[in-house]
Amino acid sequence: MLGLFLILCLAWSVSSDTDEKCPTFTNIGFYNALVGTRLKVRLLLYTDGNFACAKLLESTLPGSFNVTKKSTFIIHGYRPTGSPPVWMDDLVEALLRIEDMNVIVVDWNRGAANVIYSISSGFTKPVAKILKQTIDQMLANGATLDNIYMIGVSLGAHIAGFVGKMYDGKLGRITGLDPAGPLYNGKPPDKRLDHRDAQFVDVIHSDIDGLGFRESLGNIDFYPNGGVDQPGCPQTIFGGLQYFKCDHQRSVLLYLSSLRKDCDITAYPCKSYRDYLNGKCISCGDNQPIPCPLLGYYADRWKNYTTLKDRPVTKAFFDTTDKKPFCMYHYFVDILIWNKNSQKGYITIKLTDMNGHSTESTINHEPTTFQKYHQVSLLARFAQDLDQVKSISLVFSSGTVLGPKSKLRIIWMKLRPINRPEKPQMCRYDLVVTENKETAFQPILC
Ligand SMILES: *[C@@H]1O[C@H](CO)[C@@H](O)[C@H](O)[C@H]1NC(C)=O
Ligand SMILES: *[C@@H]1O[C@H](CO)[C@@H](O)[C@H](O)[C@H]1NC(C)=O
Repeated sequence: MLGLFLILCLAWSVSSDTDEKCPTFTNIGFYNALVGTRLKVRLLLYTDGNFACAKLLESTLPGSFNVTKKSTFIIHGYRPTGSPPVWMDDLVEALLRIEDMNVIVVDWNRGAANVIYSISSGFTKPVAKILKQTIDQMLANGATLDNIYMIGVSLGAHIAGFVGKMYDGKLGRITGLDPAGPLYNGKPPDKRLDHRDAQFVDVIHSDIDGLGFRESLGNIDFYPNGGVDQPGCPQTIFGGLQYFKCDHQRSVLLYLSSLRKDCDITAYPCKSYRDYLNGKCISCGDNQPIPCPLLGYYADRWKNYTTLKDRPVTKAFFDTTDKKPFCMYHYFVDILIWNKNSQKGYITIKLTDMNGHSTESTINHEPTTFQKYHQVSLLARFAQDLDQVKSISLVFSSGTVLGPKSKLRIIWMKLRPINRPEKPQMCRYDLVVTENKETAFQPILC
């Protein structure tokens, strides 16, 4: 009697799992993360643009699952508190809106949720093996590896890499969103995500001094704001939980932004962030043989340019604002002076349009040296893209408090928009800028 009861209970619990109308991501709470859980992988399939309701993928694939379409797997990372990722629904919806595809959420929260990181990390290969079983089934039903795309966040990026290795790098694409660093930094390619794991591997690094991976891993590696501190994220532990995860999570928010099409986040291939800040890396874009890579979903448009090189790895840098859509607008500021003595300092430049909107850029990562008759080209980055600039103002600061105020005697200056051929260049001739005093003028066409 008891036995029958148990069997009934078991049958009920199994069927309730499969018959669930719209299964959702496992939410197991902090207590379970504290005591630990066994690994369990649930695959939530979203098809036909229906982001409101998932189907649970099990050993037999449902008839409504058209495997010949592009299939995008989303693999989350470490979940120390056991709660679902806040960005997951947004990401599923944004992907389904942008293209007719299948989206499969890989819910390994039972496994990822553990206060002990190394235990969660130990599940990455087992999760990859489970994913391989599902992909094998999809292939048997007519899917192609070309059409399989994996987006892996943090530990999920390495899971995607492990899946890719099992298919000898023939998966269509892997995107790594701040691949996990701890326990992976410094490891050889077979123990982490690598550029050979798919036909195209793109990576966003947003927390290389914390939870993210330092070195480049993909065919193209994007380092927003240098990859270290993201604007708007707390810099001290008094920022609470955000202090730990804000930089890391920014990679996902940047990727999401690329799906919303508010603006294109353009990146600049470069050796280092410093070179980027110094304006040395504008070898792409208008009037150049190759376009600049875009961050996020459309990064694969750049695939051909990475495979052209011997070592098909590129680092790309760019700055962002502190909130969505994160885009910044780049200009070169060319300045030629005639001061007898060289001048050293920082430039702040402000643009104001017809409607009084203004946007400002301070070029202060390192002091600039201005010398007589030597053109200096500075990279200025603005949060807003103003259409009709009515006035420009300049502030020059030497950074010293004592001593007489210096003056910058400008023969000419030019503002050149980068990567936006439709925008006019703006000029000004013959201008004296006194230190720490805002000097405004109306630009003329060059
Ligand atoms: C499956 O998807 C492919 C590619 O989008 C499409 O051509 C085909 O008609 C679809 N099949 C069904 C049964 O909807
Ligand atoms: C990339 O290269 C392939 C093969 O050379 C070519 O067929 C394809 O059109 C190229 N794609 C783009 C986007 O340039």
